[in-house]
Amino acid sequence: MGGNVLFIQMTWVVAAILFIFGLKLLGSAGTARKGNLMSAVGMLLAIVAALLQQGLEFQWILIGFVVGGLIGAAAARLVQMTAMPEMVALFNGFGGMASLLVGWAALGGAGNTFTLVTIVLSILIGGLTFTGSLIAYGKLSETIGSGAVTFGGQQIVNSLIVLGILASAVMFCLQPENHTWLYVVVGLSLLFGIMAVIPIGGADMPVVISLLNSYSGLAACAAGFAINNNILIVAGALVGASGIILTQIMCKAMNRSLSNVLFSGFGSAAKDTTTVEGEIKPLSVDDAFYILEAATSVAIVPGYGMAVAQAQHAVKELCELLESNGAEVNFGIHPVAGRMPGHMNVLLAEADVPYDQLLEMDDINPRMETVDVAIVIGANDVVNPAAREVESSPIYGMPVINVDKARTVFVLKRSMASGFAGIENPLFYKENTRMIFGDAKETLNGLIREFS
Ligand code: TAP
Repeated sequence: MGGNVLFIQMTWVVAAILFIFGLKLLGSAGTARKGNLMSAVGMLLAIVAALLQQGLEFQWILIGFVVGGLIGAAAARLVQMTAMPEMVALFNGFGGMASLLVGWAALGGAGNTFTLVTIVLSILIGGLTFTGSLIAYGKLSETIGSGAVTFGGQQIVNSLIVLGILASAVMFCLQPENHTWLYVVVGLSLLFGIMAVIPIGGADMPVVISLLNSYSGLAACAAGFAINNNILIVAGALVGASGIILTQIMCKAMNRSLSNVLFSGFGSAAKDTTTVEGEIKPLSVDDAFYILEAATSVAIVPGYGMAVAQAQHAVKELCELLESNGAEVNFGIHPVAGRMPGHMNVLLAEADVPYDQLLEMDDINPRMETVDVAIVIGANDVVNPAAREVESSPIYGMPVINVDKARTVFVLKRSMASGFAGIENPLFYKENTRMIFGDAKETLNGLIREFS
């Protein structure tokens, strides 16, 4: 038995090491696949060791494992790249529900107050993560309206729900034999998940998903304490911490505070009063070609529209043609371009764009004045100069890629529609901007045809 315990504990240490190194490798697009695989192996080891520790008969678990694995693999294969954030939301929700169930199942063995508190925490955080994530999923997939739902006295109602959760949680810990209080905690937590996420609007949803991801980790961590499982504690803590760091990074890139994202409904704090001057100057693909042919330095700035158009392979092809024509080409990647962290990096990696050509915002901005042509491909908010110039703009202060400082700017988009933030973009009216209307992939293919 002693040998068995040692083996299980050692397996958990190995799994924890694999998680940590896996996370480290996920930090760069070049090593991310390896990191993912490493973490998956860690998780498999953790599951096997947990089953051995319990000494259960595991035929049912094995069936669940196979069914769940198949669903997960199919979902990951079938999901469109643009729908990735909502899939992550759904998975976070299931993680929350799993922690709720684990906490609940641990009730039978609960002896001391510490275990009771961890059980209540795993149920509470798991429950609100579950319903909050479902709402986030619905908003992102536009199954339900994606706007912020606000009403008078909302924060008071939410505060009362939180007080209700705390009071019933304390009552349950004082009278653990009376499960009624626990049911109240479950019900109110599920309700709170909904109430906390409905006032958050479309453009802020990715931040919320990252925060819910962190919560799902915290719920798992609490469940780990409840059932005394070290690897669940470690894995939960890693998810909790990395989720909160990512949330912070996103908030910083949007120049918002977390409390502003959570409590103020996007755009409701400041109305867009940006007034634009100048006129739109559309450009044909033929004319764009002549300008590009003469360029010696080109900066490509992709955004959500590149993902919609699936234009990454065409972008790579044009990039090669420009280079063989003697131009230096770099990509400027904004931290919140697209709809999820690393969205652009993933797409460009898929098209084999070398990583050293991808420059972060802070590295490309100082070079912008020496760039002959900046090509904006389906990006809008992340290149909006109103963030620097219009103090009343809802995005004022958000760091953006300063494409307007390049000698000429090409903007590839289909119409004059606004970006996710729903605000006017003065870039389109600047003297040095040319609009090339149309689907980004078609425009790029047109340019490629001209070059070849
Ligand atoms: P957006 O500002 O959303 O603009 C995307 C543009 O792509 C639109 O203006 C759209 O214009 C164009 N477009 C769509 N389909 C196209 C197609 N097939 N061909 C060509 N153009 C197309 O994108 P962005 O600049 O990447 O900014 C991201 C936004 O998401 C920001 O507001 C950011 O704060 C928010 N956000 C992102 C994250 C993360 S983690 N990425 C997190 C939170 C919030 P047309 O319709 O005229 O074509």
